[in-house]
Amino acid sequence: MEKPAATDVPIHELLARRWSPRAFDERPVEADNIKRLFEAARWAPSSNNEQPWRFLVATKEHKAEWDRLFHCLKEGNQKWAHRAPVLILTVAKLTFDDDSPNRHAFHDVGLATENLLLQATALGLSAHPMAGFHIEKARTDFAIPAGFDPVAMIAVGYPGNAALLPDRLREREGQSRNREPLSEIVFARAWGIPLQ
Ligand SMILES: Cc1cc2nc3c(=O)[nH]c(=O)nc-3n(C[C@H](O)[C@H](O)[C@H](O)COP(=O)(O)O)c2cc1C
Repeated sequence: MEKPAATDVPIHELLARRWSPRAFDERPVEADNIKRLFEAARWAPSSNNEQPWRFLVATKEHKAEWDRLFHCLKEGNQKWAHRAPVLILTVAKLTFDDDSPNRHAFHDVGLATENLLLQATALGLSAHPMAGFHIEKARTDFAIPAGFDPVAMIAVGYPGNAALLPDRLREREGQSRNREPLSEIVFARAWGIPLQ
């Protein structure tokens, strides 16, 4: 299913096509394509080229590992993410090598994540980021060391059949995508004055 953004002005079609579907096909994602997702993430910009992103990934072919990630998800996300053949946990390295805090660590993990999501879109894959997961469970179950913080999880797979989703989620799958108007988010001359 496609749900391109109804943009006010034209943007790159890859950006317009990316969205966060909940319907996944159970067919596995090829190892080469999984690698391409992380290669895309790797080439994101970052403060001081620190590259503070780390990724934990599991595919359903390795069920025990996939289960471990799946059980970190909150129930609301488990309801649909159970069909996704690939799960990813993103993690931020919180300090620079001299131990000073990297204020932009989460920001840069977000940039890498968007690269991954766009590469997924380009490959015909669906990818859906999730904040709804148990952070401390992820930290413990994956022995994430001090100085690193779990950031988000991502479900990845080929697009699936929305009819298989529970009722409420099936409805949401069909709903239009909305954004605040540019006048609310882009200011010029002073705070709150929209760019003309
Ligand atoms: C950091 C982050 C956390 C999110 N957490 C969840 C989540 O836990 N569950 C969910 O269904 N969607 C989650 N989403 C998806 C957002 O709801 C979605 O991106 C937003 O509604 C805009 O829709 P679009 O991605 O289709 O444009 C998350 C997205 C981001 C970026």
